[in-house]
Parts: sequence; structure tokens; C-alpha cells
Amino acid sequence: MKVRMTGRELKARYIEFFVSKNHKEIGQASLIPEHDPSVLFTTAGMHPLVPYLLGEPHPQGRRLVNVQRCLRTDDIDEVGDEAHLTFFEMLGNWSLGDYFKEEAIQLSYEFLTEHLGIEPERLWITVFAGDDDAPRDDVAANIWKSLGISDQRIHYLSKKENWWGPAGQTGPCGPDTEMFYDVGKPPCGPDCRPACPCQKFVEIWNDVFMEYNKTADGCYLPLRQKNVDTGLGVERVAAVLQERPTVFETELFAPIVSAIKELSTNPLERSIRIIADHLRASTFLLAEKLPPSNVERGYVLRRLIRRAIRHGRSIGIEEDFTAPIAAVVVAEYAEDYPHLAENRDFILAEIQKEERRFKETLQKGMREFERELQNYSPRQGQVVFPGERAFYFYETFGFPVELTEEMLRERLPGAAIDRQAFEKAYERHRQMSRAGAEQKFRGGLADATEKTTRLHTATHLLHQALRTVLSQHVEQRGSNITPDRLRFDFSHPAKMTADEIARVERIVNETITEALPIEVTITTLDEAKRQGAIALFADKYGDNVKVYAIGDFSKEVCGGPHVSNTSKLGRFKIIKEEACSAGVRRIRAVLEEMDETDQTRPETQ
Ligand code: ALA
Repeated sequence: MKVRMTGRELKARYIEFFVSKNHKEIGQASLIPEHDPSVLFTTAGMHPLVPYLLGEPHPQGRRLVNVQRCLRTDDIDEVGDEAHLTFFEMLGNWSLGDYFKEEAIQLSYEFLTEHLGIEPERLWITVFAGDDDAPRDDVAANIWKSLGISDQRIHYLSKKENWWGPAGQTGPCGPDTEMFYDVGKPPCGPDCRPACPCQKFVEIWNDVFMEYNKTADGCYLPLRQKNVDTGLGVERVAAVLQERPTVFETELFAPIVSAIKELSTNPLERSIRIIADHLRASTFLLAEKLPPSNVERGYVLRRLIRRAIRHGRSIGIEEDFTAPIAAVVVAEYAEDYPHLAENRDFILAEIQKEERRFKETLQKGMREFERELQNYSPRQGQVVFPGERAFYFYETFGFPVELTEEMLRERLPGAAIDRQAFEKAYERHRQMSRAGAEQKFRGGLADATEKTTRLHTATHLLHQALRTVLSQHVEQRGSNITPDRLRFDFSHPAKMTADEIARVERIVNETITEALPIEVTITTLDEAKRQGAIALFADKYGDNVKVYAIGDFSKEVCGGPHVSNTSKLGRFKIIKEEACSAGVRRIRAVLEEMDETDQTRPETQ
């Protein structure tokens, strides 16, 4: 019999179970990946672990477990059904070159059946069917069979369904085996099976066997070590255990949903779910101190808030409602996520500001849009709405293009916006293109290439140099590294003078010339702090941390990787110093290859 439990109890039970199986609990990472420019948000528990999946030793060992808050935008159009969400909590356990398929599957099965009480006959399994890159996963299928799952409930599916990763273009990935729970409704047809969109089978857990590294040229090479990466969705499993038809009826959403219903005069189920999901996600994004904007992450946030507001209107909510709903989210989650309570004022003020801003134009924009639609008739066949007009609604009324498209489709099913023309119009008007952000929605981690690793080390040097020149109060506020440059945000109240910039550059270049060794030690966070190491996201680390020391110059708690000696860096150059937000400056810098003439010539005797 299933054990009825709340989401919180489920999280605790999961961690406890894996700790009892010699896993170490690691802290959560931010929703906004550190250093990583190739992905907008943390979309899975494995994101912060990429260097370790590639072979870097993890300070906590080879068996890890945690709960990780995640945000995915590729399913955004599905939100409103029973199971899809943008923000969710993921439980995960990892083997970094330790156990592999047999133990991973046994652990999953034991936890599901013995600790959650899920009936084995309700479990359905998918495994990888095999293709040119990797063989059919009979090994996994046989393990399932040995545990008592019948052939009939094991399905072999293609790469599209049963392969996970890489998170970006390149990196660790592999075949997976997915566990589904049969909710008991009748099959939708003769081909109904796990992964069928009818949702008879709810995916609850994914065990990924990460033994490949996808390279930039599309090859799958064996990784140095065979890893296991798993992900179990807290909201979905809570719904299964509580026998609720949707995640929105679990205690995780109930107070949010009822607060929305109270304000609504026309409570349409789908709109309520969209509002509940989007405002929960927005609250968590704002809690990372991310304000809404027109680019990249801030744009996603804006899109979530504005879509929620429009759906609020369609269910008859007249008053400002985003801040009160965000307050409910903060109250519900503050115990597990104290940073929500700490940033409550910021969250409520920003969401309220955004609502006011959007409402100024929403009604007018909607009226104009209705008028515009009179030019189109469903009889014309498939309607393509001009991209320039969609841009006009974006520019004039602040309608994200996705919102305009949603409004369009509600009136003319199957209609689409000419996105290319929209992007062109956007490009003409904006320097920063949303297209880049769009690509990054699917995201992926920057791989630890030689170039990014060098820039990562340079970031530590820059951080310390800024502290030396400006003051010890300088603190990192963000870091973003591409193969070509680093970008570093830090707290500082004023524009840096030309002299300060020159001094920082000189100090960094001196440490490069001095060829300082980089050494890593593993110690406790307290000890690291005692030694004076910069420990930025201290609350996110587990017991043991890695401390990277660059000679006597810099000492920082960090996951790595780094180069072994500063002499590998080349010449450091600051390209730009500018304001980022109130009290925060931004530096872009590069490492130039040293050419012949720069190098110290060996002395001739
Ligand atoms: N990284 C895997 C997933 O997100 C476990 O499904």
C-alpha cells in the first residue's frame, strides 16, 4: 500500500534512504547557474555536477544525493495539464564512477516499493531501444525482469524518449531507464504505453547511465568513468502517493490554488494552474535577486509574470494579485528555502511593479489586438500573423511574442506568428537579441574546455585583485564564462577609475608572470573560512569543500576545475567596466595569447 506523505516528508525520506546507502547529501545550487553562460537556468540536479561526471573528484565522494530546485521552459506550453510544471523540485542520487546499472535500478526499486509502498504491478518501465551510437539496453531490462517486472511492462523506446543529455550541445549523457506509474485509467487506444501523451502513465523517476561524452562533432565517446544520474519529480510523486489526480491538488499547490480561486469570479481550471505554476516559478526566480527585464533570464521571468497576469484577467481577477499570491508561495516554502523569506520584500515589490507596468498597457493592447484579428478569418486557411505586427505589440504594449501567439491561437486555432520576421524586427530595434536566449532555453553546460578553465582561474585572480585595489568588501555577484571571455559582476558603489582598472590588470598579470601553482585541498567549510578562503555561496556547500589556492595570492572555495599554474593563462586584459545594477559593477575581460615578442627571452650567456 502506498504510504501517504507530503512533499516534505518525501524529500526527507529520500535523503534518509540514500544516506543509509552511503550517499552524502550535497547542498542545492542556485536556480541561476554559476559561471555557466550556455544555460539560462538549472534544469536538473546534474547541472552543477558536470565537471564531476566528466571525472573531476567531488569533495564529498562518489555517492551523492540531494534535492534541487529546477526550472524548465521547454514544457511551458504544456503547463495547465495534470503534470507539467516550469519550476519543480527534483530529488536525485548520483554515482560518480561508483555503482552502475544493477545497483542503481535496485535502489530505485527498493525505494519505490518498500519505502513509498508503490504497488509493483503499477510500475511500468522503459529502456533504450538501441541505435548506431549505443546498443539496446538489455542489461537494464534484465535487471528489471530479475526484480519481477514482467516483459509486457517493459518497453524499448528510441533516443528521443530514452536518452538523457547532454544538457547542452556537448557533455555527459547516456541511455536511461524510466519508471512510470499507471494511474489506473483505461488505455487511450491499442498503442497506449509509457510516455503516451494521454498521461495514463506518469513518469516518476529517471535513471540515466552516463557513460558517454557527446563531442562538438556529434560523436559519443566513452567517458572516463561510468556514472549514474537520477531524477525524481517531487510534485508528481507526491500526487501519486496522495492519490491526487493532478499535482495542483497536493498540499504543495493547494494553498496557492485556493488563494487564486478566492480572487477569481470565473475559475477556469487551466488558467488557475498556469497562474499557480508561473507565479510559484516567478517567486523562486525573484528570490535569486533576478528582476524582470527584456533579455535572457529576466525576459523569461517577465514572460511568466505577464502570462499569469493575462490569465488572471481571463478568470475575472480585477485587483493586483501577483504580490499576494507570491506572498503565499513565500510562506509555504520559506521553511525549506529561507532565502525566500530573506528576499520577501524584493520579491513582492518587483512583482507588483511588473504587474503595474503591464496592466497600464494590457487592456489597450488587448483591444487593439481584437481589432487587428478582424482582418483574419479562419476560413483563410492556416493564418500566419506578420512578425512585424507581433513586434509592434511587443514594443508598444509589452506583449511577449509567446503571449501574442497564445492569444492568437485562442481565437484562430492553428494560427502562428511569423517568428523569423519577428526576430528580424526585434533585431533591428534591439542590440541584444532574444534569439540567443531562445536557444539557451534548452540549455546546457559549458564544458570544461581548456579555454573556459583558464578564464575560470583568471576570474579568481580578478576577484582577489579587485579586493586588493578597491576594498575587501568587493564580493562576487555573478560570473559568466564563454570560451572567449569572462564576465564578472561584483559589489562596488562607484565606476572604477582608469587608474584602478590599470592596477587590477597589472596585479593579475603579475601573478601570471610569477607562474603561481594552483593547489586544491579538501577541507570543511569552517576550516576553509578560518583559513581566510573566500566562500561565496557558503550555504550551498556540504560538509567538505574544495579550496583552490593560487600561490599565496588567492584562496577560494570553489568546485573547479582550474589550470595547474597561472603561467598557462596568457595576458589578462579588461575590455569593459560598466554598471550592472544598483551597487553592482560588471567587468568583461579576456586572456590574450602571448606572442613571441612578449615572452621573456632566455638570457644568452
Ligand atoms: N538528469 C535526468 C533528468 O533530468 C535525471 O531526467
